[in-house]
Amino acid sequence: MPATVIVGAQWGDEGKGKIVDLLARDSDVVCRYQGGPNAGHTIVCDGETFKLHHVPSGILYAGTVCVVGAGCVVDPGLLVRELDELEARGIATDGVRVSGNAHLIMPWHVAIDSASERRLGRLQIGTTRRGIGPAYADKAARIGIRMQDILDPKILRQKFETALAEKNELLERIHGVEPLEVEELAERMEAYAARLRPSVTDTSLLVDRALRDGRRVLLEGAQGTLLDLDHGTYPFVTSSNPLAGAAATGVGIGPTRIDGVLGVAKAYVTRVGEGPFPTEIEGADQARVRELGGEYGTTTGRERRCGWLDLVALRFAVRVNGMTSLAVTKLDVLSAFAELPVCTRYRLPDCTETEEFPAHQSDFHHAEPVYEALPGWEEPLDDVAEVADLPEAARDYVAFVEEQLEVEVSLVSLGAERERVVAPRGLASVAGHGPR
Ligand code: IMP
Repeated sequence: MPATVIVGAQWGDEGKGKIVDLLARDSDVVCRYQGGPNAGHTIVCDGETFKLHHVPSGILYAGTVCVVGAGCVVDPGLLVRELDELEARGIATDGVRVSGNAHLIMPWHVAIDSASERRLGRLQIGTTRRGIGPAYADKAARIGIRMQDILDPKILRQKFETALAEKNELLERIHGVEPLEVEELAERMEAYAARLRPSVTDTSLLVDRALRDGRRVLLEGAQGTLLDLDHGTYPFVTSSNPLAGAAATGVGIGPTRIDGVLGVAKAYVTRVGEGPFPTEIEGADQARVRELGGEYGTTTGRERRCGWLDLVALRFAVRVNGMTSLAVTKLDVLSAFAELPVCTRYRLPDCTETEEFPAHQSDFHHAEPVYEALPGWEEPLDDVAEVADLPEAARDYVAFVEEQLEVEVSLVSLGAERERVVAPRGLASVAGHGPR
């Protein structure tokens, strides 16, 4: 049984949590393959809202195994808190498994993330300040602490003390902030470790066995294509690879085990943090989209910047992820507008126009969007239960996206609730994830 990747097609916050939750109903294993608590996946179910940061979005279904893969970075305190909060709301978390190879976000990573952003001043990236960059930097430098290190209290203590001695120097001398207290932190870390030990396992083997046994596996990306460390809008990116290709390494399976890549894109675009954003809306309409779409960060509460749909960036996302179909979310938010500008090309500084995403940073920084104005439908979509109920202009909007991107739109989401979604060709066509 092959695996399906769910990948963000824009700058994150596309509504992947809701789509993964929907498909998880017919899946056995759901795995996060990169990122950490910088992610905030929101699921609304029976009027209750769940905001997940570490735990995969399959957790609301009893019996689903939820894997945090080797490509992730884990803040043990935040993971323990998230598990406790889920348990307190009656959600069983005994199916959560964490790869022993996942790296730990330590208190110094969080302190360094904030201190470096402050030092950068106007040039800051606008990170979530969750310690993501510093944790991945230590992983690449081969000085990180991993989940498997928590299995032995002595090893954990030793690694913790050695690392902190160096990081405290960095904090004091370079960043001019207070050093961290060893004893209190080490004790706290041991308490988290004791709680998480039973969840640590060889998740690569677990996923391989599940696939061999014919089980359905979803691989859940965090953030989005344009935040990819190698292919996104560097340096305004995250420090991992959200792209679908990274799902194989992030979980520890071969790329031949993946056969479906479902991209998720909003019907418009949002971005949090700094960096260029060609279709960012000017004037009052930006605030209107933000209010109607509730565009505030799940993790940080920051206002999201809002823009019109950018098909140049989406065309790039289709290409670099090898997308087999697309889910379009939040179409209902556009009901408020009489006319919907959609960017089909960029105008570059040399006055040429292109449909392809610029390969060079300075071209992208100066790219001007070229819009086609599509008619709006100006009516609420609250009563839409199937595709045929959509107003004609809404169907045309979706058809325009399909035609421009040459990829099928297999899901359209019309609201936060789990059931507010229509599948133009039936759920069975969604990356092989129809009902069993
Ligand atoms: P970091 O991942 O915290 O280092 O932040 C790097 C960039 O990625 C910043 O612009 C963040 O706002 C952005 N970012 C990180 N995680 C998310 C996410 O889940 N959704 C949207 N943007 C994110």
